[in-house]
Amino acid sequence: MLEALGDWRRTHTCGGLGKADAGSEAVLMGWVQRVRDHGGVLFVDLRDRYGVTQVVFRPETAPEAMLEKARALRSEFVVAVRGLVGERPADMVNRQLATGEIEVSAGDLRILNSAQTPPFAVEDETDAAEDLRLEYRYLDLRRPSLQRILALRHRMALETRLFLAGKGFLEIETPMMVKPTPEGARDYIVPARLHPGKFYALPQSPQLYKQLLMVCGFDRYFQLARCMRDEDQRADRQPEFTQIDLEMSFTTEDEIFGLMEGLMAHLVREASGVEIPRPFPRLRYDEAMDRYGSDKPDVRFDLEIRDVSAVAATTDFGIFREAVGSGGVVRCIVAPGCAEWSRQTVDGIEETAKRYGAKGLARAKLTARGFETGVGKFLEPAREAVVAATGAKEGDLLLFVADRKDVARKALGAVRLAVGHALYKPDRFDYRLLWVREFPLFERDEEHGRWAPAHHMFTMPLEEDLPFLESAPGRVRAQLYDLVLSGVELGSGSIRIHRRDIQERVMRVVGMSAEEAEKKFGFLLKAFQFGAPPHGGIALGFDRIIMLFAGSDSIRDTMAFPKTARAASLMDGCPAEVPEDDLRELHVRITP
Ligand code: AMO
Ligand code: AMP
Repeated sequence: MLEALGDWRRTHTCGGLGKADAGSEAVLMGWVQRVRDHGGVLFVDLRDRYGVTQVVFRPETAPEAMLEKARALRSEFVVAVRGLVGERPADMVNRQLATGEIEVSAGDLRILNSAQTPPFAVEDETDAAEDLRLEYRYLDLRRPSLQRILALRHRMALETRLFLAGKGFLEIETPMMVKPTPEGARDYIVPARLHPGKFYALPQSPQLYKQLLMVCGFDRYFQLARCMRDEDQRADRQPEFTQIDLEMSFTTEDEIFGLMEGLMAHLVREASGVEIPRPFPRLRYDEAMDRYGSDKPDVRFDLEIRDVSAVAATTDFGIFREAVGSGGVVRCIVAPGCAEWSRQTVDGIEETAKRYGAKGLARAKLTARGFETGVGKFLEPAREAVVAATGAKEGDLLLFVADRKDVARKALGAVRLAVGHALYKPDRFDYRLLWVREFPLFERDEEHGRWAPAHHMFTMPLEEDLPFLESAPGRVRAQLYDLVLSGVELGSGSIRIHRRDIQERVMRVVGMSAEEAEKKFGFLLKAFQFGAPPHGGIALGFDRIIMLFAGSDSIRDTMAFPKTARAASLMDGCPAEVPEDDLRELHVRITP
């Protein structure tokens, strides 16, 4: 039953025919989307990556042998059709379809391949479980919505290259087998057959190589870089992902911001025609944490955190007074017009606050009679001062956390998102990009009682904070910045340390001995002694950019062959065992 292509050639795609083609002959090839039998007349929707075209088989004109073949067609059969393009009668025009004004009357049909009944229908609206879709990823990827995302990804990669090349950047590839790296996540490692007991690592990013490229004198480097990290997966994380990675010599934060704003504006314009305002707002880390309770604030809604410590300390509510008395704060989110929210709803938000470390979430509503419910009665005597500090209006709900500053910030950051998501219907094209800068250089690693780099080891402290490097590491800010879009960290970068002496001081603070430093990246320190220029850079999460541009909520939609939350590929069964002999050759033994 299956036929060869023979001398048939496609004349058009399934998305290309229109009214102007009426009367001409066309040869289409593609997959059968579906077959409908209208009293003997067969309508076949033929699909390829360009679109869908309706093909008609009419008993009065089609030879019986062809009709019989057409009746055997099932979903996902691969066919070639030769036929006449005809305008559809006015009442049959399908406005949903780019080719909806025409149809092709089949004159000849070749069945190029059959298909088993697919485990789910290849349609944009699918309720098939994601595991099933990932197992049959090749069918999943026939869905037009996913094909559109991969086409968008292709265009954005191309535009990125054109844009950066236009600014004098060279794309330089860096190795995929590298020395185990000192970056934040766990490495994927590869046994080195020729070096028993030794391993390569897959790169978490090209960080050290791009810095070395600056030492080489390639003053503007970029790469669409594949990165591999063995970390817990989340909706916006994959073990393998791609960065728009770049580095520049003789540069400043301002220059990098300007360049990236240009790139993002270009990509947003190419992706959706939207013109985004520049420069992007810049928030200091401290300010972002105070106002939004997050270092990646979603500013599509306001809902800023208010400090009410001063007035809270004057009330009779013990928890507030004690918090302020012991050096803490009382802060608040005003949920506009939410006074009528049910107790259950607010209890739910309180649970969120508690998950972020708050001991509770005090509530009050402002009505025509003043502050009511929860801590309302304690606030009422100081009504004017509370209103002045919060900007609350009648009908609003106020949510308070009293705690240490860092806890109050984080907990109210989570409360803010819960309230924001309840009130705000996101518009996909509302691109609010912003910079968060002046991050702390170090984070306290409480578990091990030591300081750890907040980003990575190679970030330059703020000049004016250098004197506190040893005496007060916690207050040292860094020339470290993040690019944020819609509450998602799109990118991260810094001005780097290019001097060995400062690099060594930072290493000492994080408790890295000279020997350890030498062993891990002595090669970089050595290179820095041969005239390293001042330099800095950034890396943007390319998959995340595509995810946000496509309006998708899963990073998996942006990759052809993604992994599951457990870092597995269900389609090909990866990871997999390796034969005993191979392991022996690699000098690797599995211990149960
Ligand atoms: P960082 O580790 O912050 O910085 O990564 C930069 C950006 O890459 C994206 N990203 C990810 N995307 C998908 N899945 C992941 N698992 C994942 N991890 C990170 C994020 C993030 O903002 N070398 C430095 C950059 C520099 O300093 O120049 C780096 O890799 O969008
Ligand atoms: P309690 O006195 O424990 O019954 O708490 C009274 C109210 O204060 C409850 O709504 C708690 O959620 C809230 N609450 C308790 N501790 C805090 C805190 N540290 N910050 C804000 N609200 C709190």
